[in-house]
Amino acid sequence: MKIREWLADNIGYRFSGCLYAKSHDHIFDYISSVIPNEFTGKEISDLGCGDGTNTLRLKEIFKPKSITGYERNEYLIKKAKEKGLKVKRTDLNKEISRGELAAFTFSLHHIADKEKCLRSIKRNFKYIFLIEPCNDLYHKLLDAGDPLSKEDWRKLFDKVFGKYKSYQYKNNILVFYTK
Ligand SMILES: C[S@@+](CC[C@H](N)C(=O)[O-])C[C@H]1O[C@@H](n2cnc3c(N)ncnc32)[C@H](O)[C@@H]1O
Repeated sequence: MKIREWLADNIGYRFSGCLYAKSHDHIFDYISSVIPNEFTGKEISDLGCGDGTNTLRLKEIFKPKSITGYERNEYLIKKAKEKGLKVKRTDLNKEISRGELAAFTFSLHHIADKEKCLRSIKRNFKYIFLIEPCNDLYHKLLDAGDPLSKEDWRKLFDKVFGKYKSYQYKNNILVFYTK
């Protein structure tokens, strides 16, 4: 684990949870305006769900049949459970669960081998929704993970998914993939 990732994991999240997500309403407003119909009413697995702040937003806009969070950080799992969410402890670097719709919000750039992880998700799910930040000065200086440039995200998604729907909102790239 990189030092920045360790600091976020053991200090940042402990004191503030997913503080950055407090200002994400506008992002989820945008997402709700582009969700394909077939992505609603499904069983969602929210991979790397953090403290559940955005899991609740996913629940509101995707209207899922059910939603389960998957997270590695014990402190964040506790916080998400306090919000009434069902959460399972997992390390996405080692295992990917199976399910219907995988949601991956701002977590892929924290995964060690992004391509391997995406290929496992593609194998194990019928639908994938993901949103990731593109690298910029803010993320270079402050992000504990390793976001790619817009061009490199696209190359990765083209390579793994082939055909998919993609949108850009501010500095974020969104993907909807159906098997
Ligand atoms: C930037 S936060 C995003 C959290 C949430 N999805 C959101 O939208 O706010 C990244 C999350 O991924 C989790 N994470 C990072 N690496 C992980 C791994 N290997 N397995 C499981 N969760 C991981 C972190 O603990 C953190 O909660």
